[in-house]
Amino acid sequence: MSFSQQLLKRKSVAALTNAENGLKRTLTAKDLTILGVGAIIGAGIFVLTGIAAAKYAGPAIVLSFVFAGIACALAALCYSELAAMIPVSGSAYSYAYATMGELMAWIIGWDLILEYALASSTVAIGWAGYLNSFLNSIDVHLPSYLTTAYLADPAQGFINLPAVIIVLLLTGLLVVGIRQSAIFNFVMVLIKLAVIVVFIIAGAGHIQTENWSNFTPFGFGGVLTGAGVIFFAYIGFDAVSTAAQEAINPKRDVPIGIIASLIVCTVLYILVAGVLTGVISYTELNVPAPIAVAVDHIGMSWLSPIIKLAAIAGLTSVMLVLLMGQSRIFYAMANDRLLPPLFAKIHPKFQTPHLSTIVVGFAVALLAGFMPIEKLGELVSIGTLFAFVLVCGGVLVLRSSHPELPRHFKCPAVPVVPIAGILVCLGLMAGLPLDTWVRLLVWLLIGFAIYFGYGIKHSQLR
Ligand code: ALA
Repeated sequence: MSFSQQLLKRKSVAALTNAENGLKRTLTAKDLTILGVGAIIGAGIFVLTGIAAAKYAGPAIVLSFVFAGIACALAALCYSELAAMIPVSGSAYSYAYATMGELMAWIIGWDLILEYALASSTVAIGWAGYLNSFLNSIDVHLPSYLTTAYLADPAQGFINLPAVIIVLLLTGLLVVGIRQSAIFNFVMVLIKLAVIVVFIIAGAGHIQTENWSNFTPFGFGGVLTGAGVIFFAYIGFDAVSTAAQEAINPKRDVPIGIIASLIVCTVLYILVAGVLTGVISYTELNVPAPIAVAVDHIGMSWLSPIIKLAAIAGLTSVMLVLLMGQSRIFYAMANDRLLPPLFAKIHPKFQTPHLSTIVVGFAVALLAGFMPIEKLGELVSIGTLFAFVLVCGGVLVLRSSHPELPRHFKCPAVPVVPIAGILVCLGLMAGLPLDTWVRLLVWLLIGFAIYFGYGIKHSQLR
């Protein structure tokens, strides 16, 4: 199928969205930006920042945030060009389908499971950790066999029940409707933004510049490793593009949503990192709740439980948007018949891909309930970076193969921006451990087996 045929097919899928049995178009540019912020601010800033500062970058974690932000900005510009050209759900999967063919699309769709589903499980485990810590602070103690996964600790653990319950609750919300989910997301985002802004303002008055005096204790290499670790904090801005088919004016609003949410979060991250390492020595930040520790340190202990609650709200919205993104990617893959048709079914009343959402929800809940959190984060990062590389490549391919097609948003300075995006993302991937690379390859091999066993025989192109 030629590109124009594929685009036509994609557009006909998009046209369906206005029909009765399609996805419902209700999201505005503001909703999409909030969706982006909802997906971005979570475990990365609330959990990983302290560990990355203490172990890798020191106060120069601020620079790590700048570097990771640059990698994401380059990818975001490329995402925006493709999202405005091909405004259908499915994100990078759909762009690869239209630009690089079915096999490449399958690879990226399969890879995106690492970013969306696996990240949802990782964040659910972080969420349960924060909930426990909050419950402990009000003297409620759950037994460890209900809060620890068997595979994390076979002696004491059985199931991480809070993680399972939150994933299933959010799955239910997503089945009922995108609008309801957007409203819920809005409230969660407001709570986490308010607390982050309070921390920045309150903390700024307590900065002691001697905490910054040894600014790069681990050298420049440490800054780069730190960037690889806190890259996780930025994951999610691309989730805006998975909602393209539910946006009222996707060609204009999806690029706005992607870029605006990334700008808001980058500014907040740099400020939080600066204040955090300014109020307390980086050596004391190797803890799971660094922001709470910092407010205790400056004598504002009353803020500590509020920060824990805000983190719980923040992580909830991250899971919500990632779960939604995963079900939309499966929806797009099933429309192309690379996955069984059940993933493309739309609920007659709620107009959501309910079966796709339910299957994703159960799989994510199982992983969150029984798997350990270690290593999941790195696998999520490598999978996401790989997707970014392919999206930047997609812009280059399409600019040379179809320069005539209308582009409602143009990535500036092509080919410099996409090439720089590819190189920076590959650089961050290179910093990740070898076993993470091996896991990525094993995952891709499983994907090939499924494609050649199922997808290729049922595909739309056939
Ligand atoms: N960026 C998201 C987080 O930090 C995945 O939780």
